[in-house]
Amino acid sequence: MASYSISVNGKTQTVEVDPSTPLLWVLRDHLQLVGTKYGCGIAQCGACTIHVGDIAVRSCQFPVSSVGNQKITTIEGLSEHGDHPVQEAWKEEDVAQCGYCQSGQIMQAAALLKSNPNPSDEDIESVMNGNICRCGTYTRIKKAIKTAAKNS
Ligand code: FES
Ligand code: FES
Repeated sequence: MASYSISVNGKTQTVEVDPSTPLLWVLRDHLQLVGTKYGCGIAQCGACTIHVGDIAVRSCQFPVSSVGNQKITTIEGLSEHGDHPVQEAWKEEDVAQCGYCQSGQIMQAAALLKSNPNPSDEDIESVMNGNICRCGTYTRIKKAIKTAAKNS
């Protein structure tokens, strides 16, 4: 066990965990931030996507010991009132079906638009490719990303 003070959604949080503990479990089990979901546990589905700095990261494969001073953002901290342009576009395009994959999709899309405010279809496909949706909401996701880019 070791003690880690990490910045999550603008707040410093201290947790006592094994250094190899994936950030996903620190967020869900220790900080009760359950918006970030567990899908595969092997960085293959994107359900657990969060931001480390401005980068989209699979938290199921990111040990807490690698966080250091980097700022963590989860779906709960993406915007104060759920009104990030990506979240607004998601509502406008009625993207979600069961919802399970959607926090990961939104975090991945928000990171994409931060680095590329006007992505082409190919840019969207290549960046969103690793985020799996069992409900098949891919067409609406692509449309919502374009809407968010337009409204940003
Ligand atoms: S749970 Fe992390 S990528 Fe699937
Ligand atoms: S909305 Fe159901 S898995 Fe994506």
